[in-house]
Amino acid sequence: MTERIRLTGVSKQYPGKKDAASAPALDNIDLSIQAGEIYGLIGRSGAGKSTLLRMINGLEAPTRGEVHVDGVDVQKLSQAELRTLRHSVGMVFQQFSLWNSRTVFGNIATPLKIAGWKEADIARRVGDLLDFVGLGGKAFARPRQLSGGQKQRVGIARAIASRPSILLSDEATSALDPQTTTEIVDLLRSVNREFGITIVVVTHEMDVISQLADRVSILSDGHIVESGDIHQILARPAHPVTAGLVGSYTRTSLTETERSALRERFHGRRISIVVDDALVDGPVLSRLAREHAVDFSIIQGGVARVKDQPYGQLSLALYGDDPAIDRFVSELASQTEVISW
Ligand SMILES: Nc1ncnc2c1ncn2[C@@H]1O[C@H](COP(=O)(O)OP(=O)(O)O)[C@@H](O)[C@H]1O
Ligand SMILES: [Mg+2]
Repeated sequence: MTERIRLTGVSKQYPGKKDAASAPALDNIDLSIQAGEIYGLIGRSGAGKSTLLRMINGLEAPTRGEVHVDGVDVQKLSQAELRTLRHSVGMVFQQFSLWNSRTVFGNIATPLKIAGWKEADIARRVGDLLDFVGLGGKAFARPRQLSGGQKQRVGIARAIASRPSILLSDEATSALDPQTTTEIVDLLRSVNREFGITIVVVTHEMDVISQLADRVSILSDGHIVESGDIHQILARPAHPVTAGLVGSYTRTSLTETERSALRERFHGRRISIVVDDALVDGPVLSRLAREHAVDFSIIQGGVARVKDQPYGQLSLALYGDDPAIDRFVSELASQTEVISW
């Protein structure tokens, strides 16, 4: 695997804050992003996500530490080299940042003109891009005539026009409704798949990250509090900030109040289990129940599929002999996480 982006010990303290000891926007960040992956950065507002993203194309300089893109220290680049870097790192924004006075064609063509492309090549490239983003008939529309989703399609076409190897997406779907968000998420996935572009997705929305990213880091107050495979993060969030972001997305884990109410209604033994591919691939639950002569009711839960892998959580009430239930629970616990309550 080729490393495309690396941050080592990166900190950022914005100047000019009244309180000199105020918390830095980023504090000692280490991060490695491989060529061709979609990497997610998630965190609440003010966590430092945009600051981190802007360092990758040299729009922001670290106070300490180093940012390498394709092995090159971004801080050591000359102005000319920095311009070249920005052609190989496209960016899309929450507010689209289109030029309102230019047509859709003009918006997408501008970075190519700046890069010195020939008119005929520009026309062909913009035509191909418009087809790719599904705006074939809109070349001469103005941004104000487009819906939010269409504007973001133009933003994406413009960002990938000069064939960058990296695309930075800063809350690209945050101004869009859920249906349009899904369409833009699909488009970003095809940008990654068809052109092999490495994508760094910044968002505060767990559902966006879970549909897009292979690996994620959770940012909180300028720190990476947790990193890992998206499925591992969703199924077993280790840090409270992660659990908060996952929990408000899935709403599958039970609060103590909900458990008390369920204890009143279901008098068998009660457990909650993590559902992932290990549990779904074989009919584990029904096989163990049959082998140990245990019955169960599903009393709460949900299983979603994230990028073709199941994950979720189920709560069960168990009925049978105590020793049989014990054996059932202990064998289930060797397959997945089990909480008895
Ligand atoms: N240009 C700036 N000047 C001073 N402070 C800034 C600037 N940009 C961001 N900040 C501060 O840095 C912190 C992180 O901001 P930001 O990177 O925009 O977070 P996020 O994108 O996660 O919302 C915040 O406290 C924010 O107020
Ligand atoms: Mg931001």
